[in-house]
Amino acid sequence: MLYTIKKIGVFTSGGDSPGMNAAIRSVVRACAFHDIKCVGIYRGYEGMIEGDFKPLDARSVKGIINKGGTVLKSARSQEFRTEEGRKKAYDKLVEAGIDAFVVIGGDGSFTGAMIFSQEYGIPVMGIPGTIDNDIFGTTHTLGYDTALNTVVEAIDKIRDTASSHNRLFFIEVMGRDVGHIALNVGVGAGAEEILIPEEDLGLDRLVESLRRSKQSGKSSSIVVVAEGDKTGKNVFELKDYVDENMSEYEVRVSVLGHMQRGGAPSCFDRVLASRMGVKAVESLISGNTNCMVGLKNDIMTLTPLDLAVKGKSKINLELLRVSDIMSI
Ligand code: F6P
Repeated sequence: MLYTIKKIGVFTSGGDSPGMNAAIRSVVRACAFHDIKCVGIYRGYEGMIEGDFKPLDARSVKGIINKGGTVLKSARSQEFRTEEGRKKAYDKLVEAGIDAFVVIGGDGSFTGAMIFSQEYGIPVMGIPGTIDNDIFGTTHTLGYDTALNTVVEAIDKIRDTASSHNRLFFIEVMGRDVGHIALNVGVGAGAEEILIPEEDLGLDRLVESLRRSKQSGKSSSIVVVAEGDKTGKNVFELKDYVDENMSEYEVRVSVLGHMQRGGAPSCFDRVLASRMGVKAVESLISGNTNCMVGLKNDIMTLTPLDLAVKGKSKINLELLRVSDIMSI
């Protein structure tokens, strides 16, 4: 069915990521360009249920392309997981005349959009926004590039202390289910070891590798650990393990936490957000629904939402090998 869309809602959902504001700006301006009304929905699905809406015109999104976080706020909604919650949201959309929406978020947000669109037939389009880069159907999610740069900068600073005091640092970075951040910053910041959810290198191997580093003349070391790494031990437990099994190092731990999600988006993320917003609006106009916009080989693509949610974004295992060679 070809749908004539008159008013598009846009919202951010799940964890915020740098570039979300640039994407909101792009959706709003692409709507203005195509003479379609645009409405900002505050606090994700929570705000949809409550009818927390505000009309947005081209000028209302000035000065946000360079801002981290999301001006529309974000939330994870329990109520939207229920049929009653989704019915309330639908009634609010109808009341406001919103006949399609763009959701900027991760797989949980896309699952919600998919169910909603199946139940109520509203056209939906997803823009992948998460620093984790864990969405199938795009080589880059919004905020990932910025997070990589933020984390590399932080590790560079920690290295100053590590080398001044001859210490071993375990640095925890975000990435519950995938090791994209850990793997890339590990190589980018010259870490001795990288622990990720996808590969279990084993604790014995870790100790052995750290011992070899020491013997080869290294006085300090950095080990980057993804939140969800396969050893099943968090950074504090890893410190205890090394303390018990190696006397060679003085060990410290640093958990970078939410600072990784903040800050001004990189140029890459601003450009990506601008392209994704335009692609999302124009895809809705041309009758597409239930898809996510993505980047593949520098081309904007559409991936069905169910594939984006079910598919696995794969890490580049070659980077592990490169890291091993670099840390000789
Ligand atoms: O999905 C993005 C992410 O930052 C993960 O890397 C992290 O595990 C999680 O969100 C943290 O979520 P919250 O902000 O709810 O603590």
